[in-house]
Amino acid sequence: KPMRLWGGRFESGPSDALTRLSVSVHFDWRLVPYDLAASRAHARVLNRAGLLTDDELARMVGALDDLERACKAGEFRPTIADEDVHTALERGLLERLGSLGGKLRAGRSRNDQIATDLRLYLRDHVRTIVSRLVELETALMAQAEQHAETAAPGMTHLQHAQPVSFGHQLLAHVHAFARDIDRLTDWDRRAAVSPLGSGALAGSSLPLDPVAVAEELGFDTAAPNSMDAVADRDFAAEFLFAASMIGIHLSRLGEEIVLWASQEFRWIEMDDAYSTGSSIMPQKKNPDVAELARGKSGRLVGNLVSLLTTLKGLPLTYNRDLQEDKEPVFDSVDTLLLVLPAMAGLVATMRVNTARLRSTASDGFALATDLAELLVRKGVAFRDAHEAVGHLVVYCQVNDVELGDVGDDDLLKVSPHLTPDVRDVLNVPGALAARKAQGGTAPDRVRDQLAALRETVDEQ
Ligand code: ARG
Repeated sequence: KPMRLWGGRFESGPSDALTRLSVSVHFDWRLVPYDLAASRAHARVLNRAGLLTDDELARMVGALDDLERACKAGEFRPTIADEDVHTALERGLLERLGSLGGKLRAGRSRNDQIATDLRLYLRDHVRTIVSRLVELETALMAQAEQHAETAAPGMTHLQHAQPVSFGHQLLAHVHAFARDIDRLTDWDRRAAVSPLGSGALAGSSLPLDPVAVAEELGFDTAAPNSMDAVADRDFAAEFLFAASMIGIHLSRLGEEIVLWASQEFRWIEMDDAYSTGSSIMPQKKNPDVAELARGKSGRLVGNLVSLLTTLKGLPLTYNRDLQEDKEPVFDSVDTLLLVLPAMAGLVATMRVNTARLRSTASDGFALATDLAELLVRKGVAFRDAHEAVGHLVVYCQVNDVELGDVGDDDLLKVSPHLTPDVRDVLNVPGALAARKAQGGTAPDRVRDQLAALRETVDEQ
């Protein structure tokens, strides 16, 4: 007969339909190490409260350790009748300790347990996600260092706009991921509150010590309100937002890489280890890593929306709806831990076609703004300068020449502002170097950014 946690007031067991609806152990089993850590901390508190003798505590901790070993070895496995990870582990404890195993439940509810387990799990995994983000940043920064001086076509609206340093563009992505790391670090500060001791919703009449338990589990403090503690899933929703934002950033980088690898751009060549072929077209080399990064951002956003929708309108305190918090959280963790290393590898191994970037950096009259700004330095109103250069661009299009190829007389015919010296600014390295204020694309500023970003990475 299956073991349940609430035998006393029930005459019949659960229906099959209820059991199948209710079970979560197939997905919450990954919380085992966290549930056992919380159990050890709880056992010590019961001991200090005089509710477990020293001998009982030693046997209890020994059994919890053995259970952890048995779970790791696959010797102890959950069954559908266990319902959830807490029930399964209590069964394991009872198998090892007999009635002593039943003492651990005093002063504790699955409601404060699950909230604690999920926080412990997430705080642990967020650290891993941050490490993977740092690896991706490191790969982008290594490429950026190689290409601080490499001029590339800078785009707005996916149209040639102004030349930029390709390193500047790569570092733009690093800044986005640096904000993600900052968000996760900030998240951890709020997540570091322990719900254990809140019981079902009201705390416990037993002389427990939630603050001591919190410290033992690496939290900063214990929750000041037991009702909030068992009802709150902000930490999960906030994590899912941070994960979605990472997904969005990965999708934007992924989309750029898809473009860069295309015949039309030819900015990069992907390493064989990070690209795929076609089952029919022998010549193909496809950017599947970048596409999956782009595609999987959808499920990250979906997971966020899923949890927010579950939480909306829930009355205090614990409601079984909250069991739906775990699958989105686990899926977002798993997804990031799959995508981040693949993207880091793709970026680290891609070969940048420097010659192609340089030779197309000023395509599409991309130095027109430099011309207009030169006229401004000579005292022309920007409005007039803009217009004069606009006319020059039309002249060049009609005559199929570049800005620098227009003769002195023709320049003056287009506009009296266009004296021959305007040609001085029509060189790409000069255009990059001129943008030397904070935030500009000058190679020197790119190297400054790199140094500053490296420092933040070293702090991680
Ligand atoms: N498995 C549940 C969850 O994930 C925790 C158990 C609380 N269940 C309950 N009936 N109070 O949320």
